[in-house]
Amino acid sequence: MLDDIMKPYREHPLTDRAKKVMTSGNTRSTLFIPPAPPYAVSGSGCILTDNLNHQVIDLNNNYTAMIHGHSYEPINKVVVDQLSKGTAFGLPTESDVALAEVMAARTGIQYWRFSNSGTEALMTAIRGARAFTGRDVIVRFAGSYHGSHEVFVDPTAAGIPKTTSQVVVALPQGNKAEFDRVMAEMGTQVAAVVLDLMPNRAGLVPADQSFVQHLRESTLKYGSLLVIDEVITFRVGVGGMHKEYGISPDLISVGKVMGGGFPVGGVGGSQEIMSVFDPIRSGTVSLGGTFSANPVTMRAGKVAMDNFGLNEVERLNGLGENLRAQLRESGVKVSGFGSLARLHEDVDLNNLWWEMYSRGVLAGTTTLMSLSTPMSQGHIDEIVKVIKQSLEAVK
Ligand SMILES: Cc1ncc(COP(=O)(O)O)c(C=O)c1O
Repeated sequence: MLDDIMKPYREHPLTDRAKKVMTSGNTRSTLFIPPAPPYAVSGSGCILTDNLNHQVIDLNNNYTAMIHGHSYEPINKVVVDQLSKGTAFGLPTESDVALAEVMAARTGIQYWRFSNSGTEALMTAIRGARAFTGRDVIVRFAGSYHGSHEVFVDPTAAGIPKTTSQVVVALPQGNKAEFDRVMAEMGTQVAAVVLDLMPNRAGLVPADQSFVQHLRESTLKYGSLLVIDEVITFRVGVGGMHKEYGISPDLISVGKVMGGGFPVGGVGGSQEIMSVFDPIRSGTVSLGGTFSANPVTMRAGKVAMDNFGLNEVERLNGLGENLRAQLRESGVKVSGFGSLARLHEDVDLNNLWWEMYSRGVLAGTTTLMSLSTPMSQGHIDEIVKVIKQSLEAVK
């Protein structure tokens, strides 16, 4: 049965072409879906159409980035306007000032720097933290994904220098005693503690409030910076998820929804800390990036954010709550918060992905699900139905 679903994709001419120029046809590890993924052809609102003309409700949203779904008219309008004016310059444009103003207003965090991905945002944050503190060690939490910089990858993984483990400590999230033990031993060498408040790959479970509070107090005590990675979680609140916890990070990293569907990353912090990037001061961090803060991304991002104010954030979070509640009522194990959810069923996830896809719902390969503003209650009800049927099919 399942093979009938996969076969037309596996035998599609595009799959053959891809395999001749990319190993297993793949250029983005996250998108490898055995035996061969469908190819997206177009998207409109929350509906995606693939290379076999099959249509699905897009709950993947390019791994949570497409907050307004696809081909969102207000973004299309400014992007087309920018295309006619030029897409990237060797001078800054008003558009980066405007997006920084929007981010400052949403978060209350005053200073911003933009890049092209969440990975780069995290690279910027740790470079800044190291420059600011004059220390090398980064503490992070095992299982959390922060992009592909070597500091954030398992030190035993292929291609990671053995020396990385000398400057990175990965601790179990939520384990206060272990955290305290490491900080007592090396806290004065720790430049930054990097935390995702709801790490997707570690299960999409919101962090414990008292643990987060403890990290804040401890980093202040040892003079280490607290970096909150909001690349995924920024969408759950107007100013990000850290506002829900009532804590003030030293730096936050953002990406995904802030780019309005274009490549983006960003770091925000206080004037004092962000001064480590100030080009007027000597001995500060110099960070370029040919396409960083390009006006297409910046303008698309501003429109995305302007159209995702409190009402829309709350409406989408409400739909997310409804999705999780309906699943729980049906006995399906699910975690998440706001407009994000993830299943926790002991089944073959690859098979589940295909079962859901064939019934018209695209989720992440780990079952990560994210909502977009074109969605309504009718979509949620359909998604619940598909998840229940798909789980039946794979059990
Ligand atoms: C929490 C978190 N941080 C950082 C990143 C890296 O972002 P990017 O893929 O834009 O490099 C991701 C990507 O999924 C992420 O989920």
